[in-house]
Amino acid sequence: MTTPYPITNRLQDCLNHHQPWFSGKTFLVTGGAGFIGSHLVRHLLSMDAHVVVVDEFNDYYDPAIKRANIADFLNHPNFTLAEADIRDAEAMMALVAQHHQGLERGGIVHLAARAGVRPSLSEPRLYLDTNVSGTLNLLEAARPFPKLRKFTFASSSSVYGSAPDNVPFIETQDVTSPISPYAATKVMGEELLHTYSHLHGFQVVGLRFFTVYGAAQRPDLAIHKFTKRIANGDTIPVYGDGSTRRDYTYIDDIQQGVLAAIRYDATPYELINLGESHTTTLAELIEAIENAVGKKANIDRQDLQPGDVPITYANIDKAKRLLDYHPTTLIKDGIPKFVDWYNTYKQHTCAVTA
Ligand SMILES: NC(=O)c1ccc[n+]([C@@H]2O[C@H](COP(=O)([O-])OP(=O)(O)OC[C@H]3O[C@@H](n4cnc5c(N)ncnc54)[C@H](O)[C@@H]3O)[C@@H](O)[C@H]2O)c1
Repeated sequence: MTTPYPITNRLQDCLNHHQPWFSGKTFLVTGGAGFIGSHLVRHLLSMDAHVVVVDEFNDYYDPAIKRANIADFLNHPNFTLAEADIRDAEAMMALVAQHHQGLERGGIVHLAARAGVRPSLSEPRLYLDTNVSGTLNLLEAARPFPKLRKFTFASSSSVYGSAPDNVPFIETQDVTSPISPYAATKVMGEELLHTYSHLHGFQVVGLRFFTVYGAAQRPDLAIHKFTKRIANGDTIPVYGDGSTRRDYTYIDDIQQGVLAAIRYDATPYELINLGESHTTTLAELIEAIENAVGKKANIDRQDLQPGDVPITYANIDKAKRLLDYHPTTLIKDGIPKFVDWYNTYKQHTCAVTA
């Protein structure tokens, strides 16, 4: 299973290094048809692992994009697709029971979630049901199988809330003041996992992803949305004066962290930041996209949105120490790569209005 687009040398080195360990093991990847999940599935298959994807192909963004993300895998002998909803406790029980023997050697990588910050303000119950009850359903499905304990969880930088004076964010920081329902559900997910680690011996790594981008990025996220609109000559909505800062993380860097986290077993419960540990203002981001696309943006300036944080910035010392995580792609190099992907694959994104 090769990638249809180039991956970084660092990620290729990681794949070579991890391959003997992953080969032959089975992983349940929830949200495996999504942006981050479909990259992971591709890399797992490339290392001869077996993968069971759970995804419900909801219409948060065009499900055709998610189908396209996994189209290459459908005939792979090591790939199984379960179209199911993680909110369905019985379905999760049955699925995990069916695959538990393989999963006992591999594990669960739980990426499925309602992932947008702003929509969580209008649909908090959907976010709670999916991100918290859905997580509980997977833990409960695994609980009867004492050898199935490895659980890797997608958390988020948004757990740090609005704390511009406390950057770069470090894992020991207080996260009891989330400012969006989405962020609150990620904090709850982390806490639930801690409880199951303590009570039932789950081996948990919660990864706090900092805004991830790259090939197949979700179309609702700024880099994808802006690229599409600038390329088409459409107006881009810009919230605030352009000074908000984000730590943008390239997808291949996230993948090296996820793969190492899946293997990590030195301690029972860890929360680990995965970012680039560099920040970029919104204005700088737009300029980088303009340069890569070769067109100027038409900006529609709007007020800052409730739930948005002024800055995200990761301290990644822990990831370096525990996961040998070494991100290599800064935004100046990552944006042209994203725009290259967009120009090649934009037909996949055409149906999307986000
Ligand atoms: N992309 C980022 O910048 C970012 C940053 C921080 C955290 N995260 C987290 O990483 C994970 C993956 O994010 P992504 O950007 O790939 O998002 P994505 O929306 O592309 O992928 C999530 C997948 O989960 C599936 N899903 C959602 N609800 C489901 C349900 N009830 N049952 C089964 N499947 C369901 C969706 O159909 C989708 O394919 C999420 O947990 C997200 O919160 C992402």
